[in-house]
Amino acid sequence: MNEQFAHMIIAIDGPAGSGKSTTARLVAKKLGFIYVDTGAMYRAVTLYWLEQGKPSIQEFILNLPIITLGIHPETHEQQTFLNGIDVSGKIRSREVTENVSYISSLKPVREKMVEMQRNIGNSQSVVMDGRDIGTAVFPNADVKIFMIADIQERAMRRLQEMKIQSIMPLPSLADLMETIKQRDAFDSSREIDPLKKADDAVLLDTSKLSIEDQATKIIELVHTFNNQ
Ligand code: DC
Repeated sequence: MNEQFAHMIIAIDGPAGSGKSTTARLVAKKLGFIYVDTGAMYRAVTLYWLEQGKPSIQEFILNLPIITLGIHPETHEQQTFLNGIDVSGKIRSREVTENVSYISSLKPVREKMVEMQRNIGNSQSVVMDGRDIGTAVFPNADVKIFMIADIQERAMRRLQEMKIQSIMPLPSLADLMETIKQRDAFDSSREIDPLKKADDAVLLDTSKLSIEDQATKIIELVHTFNNQ
């Protein structure tokens, strides 16, 4: 592919387990853009809250941690640092997952993360995934995708990921479906920048699509945009 791209922002949003991260990473790789997983940033803030012993929110927001990302354009793996310590593995724990919707709904947390996300995206072409990238972080993103998939399919994918990450004990499929539903409900109903499809986002149902097919569909949209 010899096509030249100007600076571009590709926003991929959607509920938990809809296939965003794997697909976004592949799209970034194929286009030579960087990939940013914004959920990891909120997870790192949540880990800090847990490590501090769940302080009151009034106290916590006065002392937010410094989150930095290690972005590797060659592998498209992202490292997430909490006050300088690599917590890329720790942020996937069940305890973090159970508390992240709450911590990410706090205004000061969102303001800090969104500012960082904008700084990254404004300086280089990026594929960024999250919940509010197309609605709040980059409302003028060049290509916006909103990914959805059947709840059962999403839970099966999460279970598979957890197996690969050797997360123990593994929850049952029914429990996982329930926690995913609860997290989506919380993320969709929060006051500030809830999980929501932007009016101009393309809806992509990934229930029956392979990762490769999902990436191909997004790249087609990028080409169409770029050749307009
Ligand atoms: O993508 P993930 O499951 O790692 O995201 C974890 C949580 O972070 C998700 O439940 C809601 C929050 N989040 C958010 O509020 N805004 C984003 N842009 C990304 C994630």
